[in-house]
Amino acid sequence: MTATKGLEGIVATTSSISSIVDGVLTYRGIDIDDLAENASFEEVAYLLWYGKLPTQSELDGLVKQLGEYAAIPSQVIEQLKLYPKDTNTMAALRTAISSLALYDESAQDMSPEANLKKAIKLQAQLPTIVAAFARIREGKEPIAPKSGVSVAHNFLYMLTGQDPDDVAVKALDQALVLHADHELNASTFAARVTVATLSDIYSGVTSAIGALKGPLHGGANEAVMVMLEEIGTFGKVESTINEKLANKEKIMGFGHRVYKNGDPRAKHLQKMSRELGKLTGNMELYEMSVKIEELVTGQKGLKPNVDFYSASVYTTLGIARDLFTPIFAISRVSGWTAHILEQYENNRLIRPRAEYTGPVNQKVTPIAERK
Ligand code: ACO
Repeated sequence: MTATKGLEGIVATTSSISSIVDGVLTYRGIDIDDLAENASFEEVAYLLWYGKLPTQSELDGLVKQLGEYAAIPSQVIEQLKLYPKDTNTMAALRTAISSLALYDESAQDMSPEANLKKAIKLQAQLPTIVAAFARIREGKEPIAPKSGVSVAHNFLYMLTGQDPDDVAVKALDQALVLHADHELNASTFAARVTVATLSDIYSGVTSAIGALKGPLHGGANEAVMVMLEEIGTFGKVESTINEKLANKEKIMGFGHRVYKNGDPRAKHLQKMSRELGKLTGNMELYEMSVKIEELVTGQKGLKPNVDFYSASVYTTLGIARDLFTPIFAISRVSGWTAHILEQYENNRLIRPRAEYTGPVNQKVTPIAERK
């Protein structure tokens, strides 16, 4: 048995949800470029769960359902108030999502209907949790979700208590479309491994959030912003990046396991970053990002991934840096749950092997003789 480090190139399952072929990402066969320009996040979530784009009445029904399910149990709000105010936002989200199962009577119901309903509930409640924690840690009361508005609108509304403008809603909505699913990425794989034991959907999503948190995956968008803040001004980009590259440091937001010629989602976020910069009259973050790209691509041949321009987009929208990865989760929970439902439909335990590299033929040394 020979191990493949990081399972690179290993095809671990079949899936009809999303695919990456020759650098082109599709959800249910539709190019992400088409979806980014022509579909809302709710249409995309429907597409991932049901396998087809919704009719107008199906879409209205989903938006209504998301609104109805968006409130979180009062016990979960009380718990959020007990978390340390300075705790990691992804740790808070992971804990709160896990605890939602305690207050859902259907948590252990494994029927397909119950699991689909829980998928929609998780999609509805995850943004409410993120916004509630963001306010509670600032000593503010959480704001109850609205019904009849999009996920993007509701999230921005719950953060501030103000209805967001159309530009902010459109930008966030497009970012959610771009992050919704991505074949067998690390967090989706974690979700599938968990539920392949026939564990429940809340356990699957909790595992996925734990995997997304790391800076080699979803945590990279926050790490990009840390880097931009550390660099500080356009004038310091070149020297700081050159120093990092000389020290063989990883530049966050660059590189990808699957895309070697560029991530098709990055160009949409770059465009959004430029447009938001122009609208707000502050182009510095965008210009710094473009310069970083020029240096990293020029010297290492590495291209920006989905996380790179997300950082300047979310900052320009006025969103705190440590909410970037939770926003990724707000979107990706649609994909995670679609994959969980697909795993249940045709399940087999996921249990690979390991190539053993430890000592052999050892004996138990009596404890008094051990060093
Ligand atoms: N900056 C500098 N060098 C890099 C970077 C980077 N961002 N990414 C890869 N490299 C280099 C590695 O150092 C390595 O060089 P070496 O062969 O000289 O040792 C080579 O490129 C191959 O890199 P690996 O880390 O082996 O590639 P892998 O496929 O395992 O990792 C990953 C992919 C994790 C995305 C990596 O590119 C990385 O760490 N990027 C930065 C973090 C990041 O942006 N993550 C988000 C990914 S997208 C997502 O999850 C949503």
